[in-house]
Amino acid sequence: MKIIVTGGAGQLGRAFAALAGSFAGQLVILESHALDVTNLAQVHSIFHQVRPDAVIHAAAYTAVDAAEAAPEEAFRVNVIGTRNIAAACLQYDSKLVYLSSDYVFDGRQSRPYTEFDCPNPLNVYGRSKLEGEFIAARICPRLFIVRTSWLYGDGHNFVRTILKLAREREYLTVVNDQTGTPTYAADLAQGIMALIETDGFGTYHLSNGGYCTWYDFAQEILRLAGLPTVVQPVSTGTFAAAALRPRYSVLRNYMLELSGGDYFRCWQEALADYIAKMPLGISER
Ligand SMILES: NC(=O)c1ccc[n+]([C@@H]2O[C@H](COP(=O)([O-])OP(=O)(O)OC[C@H]3O[C@@H](n4cnc5c(N)ncnc54)[C@H](OP(=O)(O)O)[C@@H]3O)[C@@H](O)[C@H]2O)c1
Repeated sequence: MKIIVTGGAGQLGRAFAALAGSFAGQLVILESHALDVTNLAQVHSIFHQVRPDAVIHAAAYTAVDAAEAAPEEAFRVNVIGTRNIAAACLQYDSKLVYLSSDYVFDGRQSRPYTEFDCPNPLNVYGRSKLEGEFIAARICPRLFIVRTSWLYGDGHNFVRTILKLAREREYLTVVNDQTGTPTYAADLAQGIMALIETDGFGTYHLSNGGYCTWYDFAQEILRLAGLPTVVQPVSTGTFAAAALRPRYSVLRNYMLELSGGDYFRCWQEALADYIAKMPLGISER
């Protein structure tokens, strides 16, 4: 199987790069300078060269707060870019995995969201990711929509930010009124690889198990790293973030449960694995 991965320099893209050695097929991992998904001619030229059996479309505009002031850029990458990839997948009969987000939900629910719950995004980023889902579904029949949440891996993420700040400050303040599930990019990449081998097309939630607030997440990061920094819980209103975020965006991997079982480990176990594998000094970058 020959698979193109878009957004190769991102956290998920790098998780696929780490899998490449153990994959029996061919993973063609393309960073934005090699494939700008908003450039339709370039998309077609790459598909013509590679003729992929499948595409994992991980490229996205992911700056949640910046998107509020730059909606055109968010929609250009997340919707037009996705349309271009979906159209090429249709032409070359490739399977498509479109990465989406827990931020398609408004967070008013108090039980985990399944794939059958109704999206209602609160911010520009979430709206652009949802429109990306719609446009992919209108064009490409061999489609997996994969929603995930609170991703961390090789790249800028909450875990590295907390470790860096904990080394610089005596105490930190972290919001305690947003609940979700941290997801390790390496686990997500494995989940996607298992899915892509099948013809079980549809929408899937793929996140690690359990849930926490950002405050709980920070506490666990510091505990695992053995750092004594004190964390104070605060409310979302303490920080003047540009984008509204869902109060509760826990995803239930319900489609997996219905089709053989949810094999994702709990977020604490995944985080322990991530921190244990972190090269020394990486959090200072
Ligand atoms: N991070 C999260 O917490 C989270 C949560 C839920 C869902 N997701 C979704 O999961 C996917 C992977 O997220 P991630 O954390 O790996 O994102 P990331 O680290 O921000 O990486 C996104 C990548 O997309 C690339 N990109 C941006 N515009 C592009 C374009 N026009 N053409 C090609 N590539 C472009 C970026 O390239 P440059 O580096 O060159 O800019 C970047 O390498 C995304 O679809 C995201 O929406 C993420």
